[in-house]
Amino acid sequence: MLKHILSLITIGMSIILSSCAKAPQNFDLKSPSNQISLSFNLTDSGQPEYSVNYQGKQVITPSTLGWTLKNAQLTDGFEVKQIDHSNVDETWQMPWGERKNIQNHYNQSTVTLSKGQREIHLIFRAFDDGVAFRYEIPAEAPQDSIFLMNEQSEFNISQNLDAWSIPADFDSYEHLYKKTKLSEVKNANTPITLASEDQKLFLSIHEAALTDFAGMTLYKSDKNSLGLYSTLVPWPDKVLVRAKGHLRSPWRTIQIASKAGDLITSDMILNLNEPSKIQDESWIKPMKYVGVWWGMHIGHNTWTMGKRHGATTESAIDYINFAAENNIQAVLFEGWNTGWDKWGQKDAFDHITPYADFDLEKVAQYCKEKGISLIMHNETGGDIPSYEALIEKAYAKYQQLGSNAVKTGYAGGIMPRGQFHHGQFMVRHYRKVVETAAKYHLMLDAHEPIKDTGIRRTWPNMMTREGVRGMEWNGWSAGNPPAHHLVLPFTRGLSGPIDYTPGIFDLKYEKYKNRIPWNGSQETLDNARIHTTLAKQLALFVTLYSPMQMASDLIENYKGNPAFQFISDVPCDWDETKILDAAIGEHMITARRNGNNWYIGGATDENARTLSLSFDFLEPGKNYTATIYADNKDTDLEKNPTSYKIEKMQVDASTKLSIPCAESGGFAMTIIPQ
Ligand code: NOJ
Ligand code: CA
Repeated sequence: MLKHILSLITIGMSIILSSCAKAPQNFDLKSPSNQISLSFNLTDSGQPEYSVNYQGKQVITPSTLGWTLKNAQLTDGFEVKQIDHSNVDETWQMPWGERKNIQNHYNQSTVTLSKGQREIHLIFRAFDDGVAFRYEIPAEAPQDSIFLMNEQSEFNISQNLDAWSIPADFDSYEHLYKKTKLSEVKNANTPITLASEDQKLFLSIHEAALTDFAGMTLYKSDKNSLGLYSTLVPWPDKVLVRAKGHLRSPWRTIQIASKAGDLITSDMILNLNEPSKIQDESWIKPMKYVGVWWGMHIGHNTWTMGKRHGATTESAIDYINFAAENNIQAVLFEGWNTGWDKWGQKDAFDHITPYADFDLEKVAQYCKEKGISLIMHNETGGDIPSYEALIEKAYAKYQQLGSNAVKTGYAGGIMPRGQFHHGQFMVRHYRKVVETAAKYHLMLDAHEPIKDTGIRRTWPNMMTREGVRGMEWNGWSAGNPPAHHLVLPFTRGLSGPIDYTPGIFDLKYEKYKNRIPWNGSQETLDNARIHTTLAKQLALFVTLYSPMQMASDLIENYKGNPAFQFISDVPCDWDETKILDAAIGEHMITARRNGNNWYIGGATDENARTLSLSFDFLEPGKNYTATIYADNKDTDLEKNPTSYKIEKMQVDASTKLSIPCAESGGFAMTIIPQ
């Protein structure tokens, strides 16, 4: 097992009161370097309140906290009974990820608040890259049911920052991020990213370790135009969270940085999750994949059986051969199983029975022969009871076939009706799927998921997820605008890996005539395309992190194209990640190291611009060969987006390069020691 703790210091100290003395009702909690400090206070009415300072300036102004249970108002009238302080400094290793070694260094204060017979804990942590807090009702009467009816966690921000947000949709994160002032945000799903105009302060509000609770959204406070407060996704009966005996919330997190790139390299969300529960992690391996997928989204193929059926035995053999010849480790065949013709109905999908023209046993056997992993696709259409009834049997079968991964999907409304994708009912379901997958040694890629809150630390088979307006939207809508890819790493990407499915080479896909669109209006479809250059598609393999990374085009568009060499070469597991250039929504350059090799992705929004790159991150005195895939002089987003050039040159730590990028263009680079 790769994961081990290298060092651990924990010091505990508590202030417990004798019956007559009154405890201090406030305290300051500082981060290890003193950069960040959180102040806790009880208001005159006994309401818990916190504020946060960063580099001596207040960034979160006094913000109250409170819970309302069905039979208790836990918002005010409190006294501080006890305060416990502790700290941790440990280093642990990820089995896979954006980097190998992670430092978990924080100071913690746990406040025990009492109100009559009731007690509630508030636990605060201060890291050098942010603060976090959680609520806990200790286990007093283990059989008692707890019903959480309201959580009122405030996040009052000190300045009217720029904000990048998506709406507080309880069912989907597949929205375009809007840039507004914080004062204009009405509601948002998390993570929400905030930045000062002078680019000196960056914040991201999110949550960590969401395992048995309702997802948190944020709503604008009616008292404060710079204030947001938690709004949890309800059950159909309006209860937010149900529990027995005791209840602990996920961590409410505020990441704080003075550079946009430092939000991306922060490990706070992961550090707030429990260590791995999987003893033998040897079967968990990042992998690139190709598959039968894009053809359906552009209406060239169908999921259902018929003349245009995508997932046939013959096409599967083709994809497996292509993967084996091109350093792609896995394949996905959507529409392999029966039920697609009944999508939307109860008990539509059968995740065990293949369509008659897809010989599952033969395909699985051929994968084994070629050393290629088979990713089993499970669209549920949101029908949870039917999926849960089948899951053990299906996963056992996949393991027996030699498959090591499942891609799930929850397109459509949730059954039972009235449940939301992001409520506690579904959070429990998603966790059950992760745990069942671990039992059968299956890695997971979840579409229409619950947002990532870092649970991959605890369940390292939870590889990647959608929860983003991904590539599919370019097949049947006005598509994703050029700035989208420059916003995602600083927003959705802060929560964890993204299965965006990059790598379309045939950017206008005009040769696919007589398409049968499955979604969207005919007019939209006629104008649909991918709004980037080809070189930018390559860059996304580096800028958008996913340990299961799809090269999403039809393989016929890859065969014979020299640009595919980059996709073939680029890994999807890293020892180190550096953000070399970052302007949210405008441009970025990301460098990632795997062993001694570096891979770089650079990209721009709708504006053509020249990106400057200094190689000072390379080992001094060493020579490297750089292969650069970049926009060409004649590359043009509208007229000629697929034009690119490949150049080779020697570089070292003193090299500096200026790379011109077309509108919505970019570049990708491999850097190999000589
Ligand atoms: C939506 C998913 O995001 C997409 O990847 C999948 O192809 C379709 N649902 C069908 O399951
Ligand atoms: Ca989707």
